[in-house]
Amino acid sequence: MKCDAMAKKLAVIFLITLIFNQTSALIIPSAIVVAISSMGYLGPKIYCQLKECCSGKWTSPNITGLQLSLQKRVFGQHLVTETVSKAIIGHLNNKSPGKALAFSFNGWTGSGKNFVSKIIAEHLFRKGMDSKYVHQVIATHDFPHQAELKHYKKKLKDLIVRSVKGCPRSLFIFDEMDKMPFGLIDVLKPYLDHHHEVERLDFRKSIFIFLSNTGAGLINQELLTHWKEGKKREEIRIKPLDEALNLNEFNAKTGFWHSSLIEKHLIDYFIPFLPLERSHIKMCAKADLELKGYPVTEEILNRVADEMLYSPEDLKVFSKSGCKKVSSKVDYIML
Ligand SMILES: Nc1ncnc2c1ncn2[C@@H]1O[C@H](COP(=O)(O)OP(=O)(O)OP(=O)(O)O)[C@@H](O)[C@H]1O
Ligand SMILES: [Mg+2]
Repeated sequence: MKCDAMAKKLAVIFLITLIFNQTSALIIPSAIVVAISSMGYLGPKIYCQLKECCSGKWTSPNITGLQLSLQKRVFGQHLVTETVSKAIIGHLNNKSPGKALAFSFNGWTGSGKNFVSKIIAEHLFRKGMDSKYVHQVIATHDFPHQAELKHYKKKLKDLIVRSVKGCPRSLFIFDEMDKMPFGLIDVLKPYLDHHHEVERLDFRKSIFIFLSNTGAGLINQELLTHWKEGKKREEIRIKPLDEALNLNEFNAKTGFWHSSLIEKHLIDYFIPFLPLERSHIKMCAKADLELKGYPVTEEILNRVADEMLYSPEDLKVFSKSGCKKVSSKVDYIML
């Protein structure tokens, strides 16, 4: 508003200058002075209309859209849809959150961990995953060698500091957490903790999501027991799954759980992703067929579901690859 008012004032001055300065010798220098002054006020505004900035339309979250998308587009993950949007809303509504928001998404392959991360990015940033304030780190791609730990620690620190400097509400997605070099993730500790300032920056508005398959076997086992007892999938709660995960035990076994992030309770939410069943495969197939403009029939959906492999061998309840291969199976069937 301030900029607008000032720009209008300057425009009026410019017009008056035009009217009263009859000689071109006076008009041109005056016009230049006024134009340069206006640029000072309008420059950042015009720039941010065209290029991504940490303000306005680029970073205003679409919370209703996020809730709707999670409910409508993510199948079979009631624990995810319930917990994730609530946690994000709480963090965004808090003008000065006590710490950065940190999620750990755990579960079987193809259950939607990357998919949900992408939906979150799309509703917090206009440019979604392409935003310069959204960073996806893939362990095997970005940090493949244990021997390079020292160099990686610096690289990761620099990435986080640079992004938060540009935008305090940065989003960091760490894929394949279980494959991160041992000790690397401990670098994140100061940025996730309750510190007011680290390196003169406040990291408490940022969001971290850690993805891994760690604990997937246990989550599946727990759901299978629940299923065998004849209970509805939607009745399963986070608590028994968390207990099944028995995080202390993991601590001793894999790189991620060695990390002091867990010992120091810096992860706010462990979100279990449940293995997907045949009915969810059909829902994924329907979404994919619609996206590609194909007709949707029960026969086609069954053909896609028949293409998938299911476990355990005797009961065949859970898709071994979740919804991951659905899109290519649809192409195969429809071409
Ligand atoms: N619960 C789900 N609801 C809707 N679509 C899903 C779901 N899970 C997976 N999909 C579809 O399958 C694709 C692959 O899933 P995604 O990459 O999110 O799996 P993941 O959990 O990250 O697996 P991995 O552990 O192998 O990395 C998604 O892009 C999406 O199209
Ligand atoms: Mg993934």
